[in-house]
Amino acid sequence: QRSEAEVVMISVSSYACQRRTSLINHNAVLTDALSLLPHNAELNEDEGRGLAFRRAAAVLKFLPEPVTTTTPLRGLPCLGEHSLRVIEDILQDGASREVESTKRSERFKALKVLNGIFGVGVKTADRWIRAGIRYLQPLQGSGETLSRAQRAGLRYYDDLNQPVSRAEADAVGEIVEKAAVSVLPGARMTLIGGFRRGKLTGHDVDFLLTHPEEGREEGLMPKVVSRLESEGFLLYQKTTRNSYLESEDGPARSSSSMDRFQKCFSIFKLSRGEEGGAEQTGNGESLTPSGQEAWRAVRVDLVVSPVSQSAFALLGWTGSKLFEREMRRWARREKAMSLSSHALYDTRQRRYLRASSEEEIFALLGLEFIPPSERNA
Ligand code: CTP
Ligand code: MN
Ligand code: MN
Ligand code: MN
Repeated sequence: QRSEAEVVMISVSSYACQRRTSLINHNAVLTDALSLLPHNAELNEDEGRGLAFRRAAAVLKFLPEPVTTTTPLRGLPCLGEHSLRVIEDILQDGASREVESTKRSERFKALKVLNGIFGVGVKTADRWIRAGIRYLQPLQGSGETLSRAQRAGLRYYDDLNQPVSRAEADAVGEIVEKAAVSVLPGARMTLIGGFRRGKLTGHDVDFLLTHPEEGREEGLMPKVVSRLESEGFLLYQKTTRNSYLESEDGPARSSSSMDRFQKCFSIFKLSRGEEGGAEQTGNGESLTPSGQEAWRAVRVDLVVSPVSQSAFALLGWTGSKLFEREMRRWARREKAMSLSSHALYDTRQRRYLRASSEEEIFALLGLEFIPPSERNA
């Protein structure tokens, strides 16, 4: 009979992209606690430490059984002294003093509220907190200049902090697909993000749009957006040009294809109840029989990719964020390659490596293929 230590220590890679992480988490109590600490670390502008806690939590998510003592964890990657101390406190005393005092702190509570506003990042939240703004009401009267996104974020705050269900995601998908196909016959839509990984709820819904004929997808985003807008489905939208050239993720591509990769961060007006139907009431004030408003606001992200890059876009937008990050770390450190949502570049061969499926990208990186449902690191 093998000891617990031996069982757990069997091949846990330090790279999350080499681990199969399903949605079943046997250590949610511990990972929930650890996931509060990155917030705190990032708030104090310590991103490296924040990432360390995320990596530690991801290793615990991967374990096939609940952890009962820290002894078998000692040999595992990514679990530093700090994380182990937090885990030990919870296992022994039922709670970690550090986590509990973080949760109780005014700073953390304010960060949670302000960071929960669409369009407000950690830096803005931090600036507001230092200016004495802790909650929504004071913010509205503070005279702070709010961006269009932040104003929409405040207006739909309650809805946007309500998890999106799979049925709602599918309802949005039907609307988006109809709009895309009507402005560009043959357009293809794929559900990406957390829902593609099998999550039952999300903070938003993410879709990738493309067309099997290279170049036909050009200009698709503005057309889809104005179609959706004219149908009354958009409460807010911001369409951005691809910022790939500025990103730290990879070498610049030729500028000729730069404009083709567009994103739209939006807020949808989704009718309640009949999730399957794409019918719009047009009356924002009407109520359902149960007294609810007839619609709710839902965050939706759209990406358009040329088909030549769509495997990279699909992989890059399926997540999880840590899984993506770890794949790029693997590519860079172990393969001297640069992976982004657009391309894979081999720095030794000094050339781009083509791929038309996620499977091919994993193979080019020398990784075993991990399906979306097991990328929940
Ligand atoms: N993403 C990205 N660039 C952005 C925003 C998101 O590449 N500007 C990618 C993320 O890396 C992630 C995916 O899009 O892989 C989905 O991001 P997001 O919607 O934030 O997270 P989900 O995993 O879908 O989880 P949630 O349910 O919270 O939405
Ligand atoms: Mn998402
Ligand atoms: Mn998210
Ligand atoms: Mn998203």
